[in-house]
Amino acid sequence: MRDKISVMISEEEVDAKVREIAAKISKDFAGKTVHMVCVLKGSVFFACELAKRITVPVTLDFMSVSSYGDDTKSSGVVKIIKDLDEPLEGKDVLIVEDIIDSGRTLSYLIEILKQRHPASMHLCTLLDKPERRVRHVDVDYTCFEIPDEFVVGYGLDYAQKYRNLPFIGVVEN
Ligand code: IMP
Ligand code: MG
Repeated sequence: MRDKISVMISEEEVDAKVREIAAKISKDFAGKTVHMVCVLKGSVFFACELAKRITVPVTLDFMSVSSYGDDTKSSGVVKIIKDLDEPLEGKDVLIVEDIIDSGRTLSYLIEILKQRHPASMHLCTLLDKPERRVRHVDVDYTCFEIPDEFVVGYGLDYAQKYRNLPFIGVVEN
């Protein structure tokens, strides 16, 4: 059976906001190279759109961590599935996330990445569910704060499906 998905944030709204955040990042990183650390797989769609609109030089690296199974609830377990290819030493790092929910994944990731001595480290997320926060994380760039609902699209999945939707939607059960 196909799930019914309602639009929470349209493609046009996401696009306009990504442009706005990219302009802000370009200004804040003037004279520097933005080294984007993308958290697979969810942040890939957002990272590409963002990177295309940033006007200072951009380099990218990817890592994969898991805190969830094919479920909509946190298991509380965070592990590195794939580490970065390159060292972070001396780089101006921008961690790019799809969504911050409990904050467990990011607080863990920030701790280990800080130990690699980047010149600076900032965090950019497409979505934030502040109501669900269990661990504090300092977020530098947020596209949208959303209520406590499970969303899909623009990289976000429900059991690996719907990442390719061009908007952010809610699965109606
Ligand atoms: P956190 O550690 O609880 O902040 O979990 C963040 C991760 O959980 C995200 O990177 C997503 O992979 C996943 N996640 C949390 N909320 C949602 C949602 O509404 N839709 C899809 N994935 C979600
Ligand atoms: Mg993620």
